Amino acid sequence: MAFVVTEACIKCKYTDCVEVCPVDCFREGPNMLVIDPDECIDCTLCVAECPVEAIVDEEEIPAEQQGFIELNARLSQQWPPLTQRKDPLPDADQWAGVPDKTKLLEE
Ligand code: SF4
Ligand code: F3S
Repeated sequence: MAFVVTEACIKCKYTDCVEVCPVDCFREGPNMLVIDPDECIDCTLCVAECPVEAIVDEEEIPAEQQGFIELNARLSQQWPPLTQRKDPLPDADQWAGVPDKTKLLEE
């Protein structure tokens, strides 16, 4: 099992989550982070840190976002680690809570 970054992160990337991860398993893409499922130890600490509630237990992901399990696994193998908080994306507050952002993901 692992925790998974879902659609809400896209175009926000607040990065509060990376500060608390004890095993540094967040990876950074252009407009989203993902979690490396092989590194995540299910500590749950990051869940409460995300202002847009993008981080979800793999077992509790809604049906329409199941694709993010594979997406986190795949992109965590190609994106570099991020271990310190940085400024969110410039329009993060405008994109927070906006639905259907998956098509906007930049790989
Ligand atoms: Fe890191 Fe814990 Fe979040 Fe997994 S659940 S990504 S180990 S902070
Ligand atoms: Fe994304 Fe939330 Fe972390 S928006 S970068 S999962 S704090």
